[in-house]
Amino acid sequence: MASTSSFKVWCLVSCVLLLATACHGLQVGYYRKTCPKAEALVRAAVKKAVHANPGIGAGLVRMLFHDCFVEGCDASVLLDSTQANPQPEKLGIPNNPSLRGFEVIDAAKSAVEKACPGTVSCADIVAFAGRDASYFLSHSKISFHMPAGRLDGRKSLASETLQFLPGPTSNLSTLVSMFGDKGLNVEDVVVLSGAHSIGRSHCSSFMPDRLNSPSDISQSLANFLRRRCPANAGGANDPTVAQDVVTPHALDNQYYKNVLARRVLFTSDAALLSAPETSRMVRANAKYAGSWEKKFAKAMVKMAAIGTKTGSDGEIRRSCRLVN
Ligand code: HEM
Ligand SMILES: *[C@@H]1O[C@H](CO)[C@@H](O)[C@H](O)[C@H]1NC(C)=O
Repeated sequence: MASTSSFKVWCLVSCVLLLATACHGLQVGYYRKTCPKAEALVRAAVKKAVHANPGIGAGLVRMLFHDCFVEGCDASVLLDSTQANPQPEKLGIPNNPSLRGFEVIDAAKSAVEKACPGTVSCADIVAFAGRDASYFLSHSKISFHMPAGRLDGRKSLASETLQFLPGPTSNLSTLVSMFGDKGLNVEDVVVLSGAHSIGRSHCSSFMPDRLNSPSDISQSLANFLRRRCPANAGGANDPTVAQDVVTPHALDNQYYKNVLARRVLFTSDAALLSAPETSRMVRANAKYAGSWEKKFAKAMVKMAAIGTKTGSDGEIRRSCRLVN
């Protein structure tokens, strides 16, 4: 009798535990049964876009970061302006007009909806797309499983973007504390900043901050940027420059070599050398090719788990741009 009841308790406890993981944990191969082609369809859409324009791949890597830091990884960054919500995240300063890749998410979603309607969340598509863009831009050196099972959120506010996304003039303590608020640590700051080895920046993101006030930026890079950027960059007069002039389309550890050579665009990049702990990490990532790629993969999975919605707080959107 006693053993029967303890068995019952054991059953109850393990069922609750199982349920808890099923409800809160993301899983690798989440769509294996419900939509086996989901990940391949997203990858095909990303591949096509990255081959046409590698910059869009950079946009997709950045999109995951911008989605996850604001309201969690819930595709809140994808929602368009509506009468009910005229100022969604998309229109926030960090996203507008610089964030790109939305059309790739639309293409992936429509392919996935055709194969299995109402099954795959936009939040998971953003996470798969960020993973796949990393894969293609690293020439398959960054290759990893992305757990899934996120739901899409219904809340998206432009006012939350500046609150949660660090700006390019951030110092190291601001970066560490803003990443810390999202459950990421100082190594994640250093490792994920390596994404600035691809893509572009508008002049207004580093002008005048890095060129007027005293900064450690390399003189040759500063001269190049002065030629490319108007002093009052912004609005319609805001050219772009490559983040990594050495290997602009390759997601690799060149970023850390650029940091050491003072050839980076933002105060937030240069700030990685402002403490011994992060300087050590920068030097290690610059030196050991291959090890940063593995750390980046792990950090992307960690970032892609921030504040995920798996209960009544979410839904699977029919259109990634609109709540159901
Ligand atoms: C550490 C704090 C960070 C700051 C302050 C920061 C800031 C910025 C800024 C200002 C731009 C240029 C936007 C423009 O003017 O067009 C940019 C671009 C970019 N960021 Fe970050 N970022 C940070 C972290 C990250 C992370 C964690 C990722 C992804 C893992 C990321 C990926 C990218 C990519 C790929 C681009 C190029 C986007 C494109 O070409 O469309 N950044 N970032
Ligand atoms: C970093 O920046 C924040 C916000 O601008 C400021 O309050 C803080 O004093 C700065 N910290 C350091 C160490 O410079």
